[in-house]
Amino acid sequence: MKRIAILASGTGSNARKIVEHLQGNNHIEVALIASNRKTAGVLSMAEEFGITSSVISRNDFYESDAFLTHLQSAKIDWVILAGFLWLVPRNLIQAFPDRIVNIHPALLPAYGGKGMYGMNVHKAVKKNAEKFSGMTIHLVNEKYDDGAIVFQGRTDIEANDSAEDIAAKVLKLEHEYYPIVVEGLVMAQS
Ligand code: GAR
Repeated sequence: MKRIAILASGTGSNARKIVEHLQGNNHIEVALIASNRKTAGVLSMAEEFGITSSVISRNDFYESDAFLTHLQSAKIDWVILAGFLWLVPRNLIQAFPDRIVNIHPALLPAYGGKGMYGMNVHKAVKKNAEKFSGMTIHLVNEKYDDGAIVFQGRTDIEANDSAEDIAAKVLKLEHEYYPIVVEGLVMAQS
């Protein structure tokens, strides 16, 4: 059995899709859901599914090995970021080489980097009158949105699409592909 942890800062709609999808897989368990925000919707979702959850403090994440130790004692094999907005520190990257995955709501390397998250991305895409956007699933290294790309999905943008319309199109792609790409990555390492 492979054990995954999902880290999310917000609603956790992608986290929910992953949890729902993996209920049908006997080889992968979502063993932990963690958030840096104690009011994040993703924590209620964890409770709904009876999944262990925790709130991450800056101190535990950046100033000590406390969060790493937490993952290791939960025997976590893979760390899946789903709308998690903190930069992942070196101790975690080194402990989980090529085992930390992120999703980004644009076609990287475009519209990536610090400050490029959520609606900031879609507003920038709209401002530049892009004809298409999409989502990127990538491995995580020590820089924002910089690791090896695993999968990209693309969607057309109509001239009259608002930033919110673009966000909805991209989120639909994320929900469609993130669960199966995560499953594929984890199964390939089993
Ligand atoms: C998703 O669109 C994800 O791509 C984005 O946050 C959203 C989380 O939505 N991530 C980033 O912007 C990371 N740079 P969710 O909480 O409903 O899954």
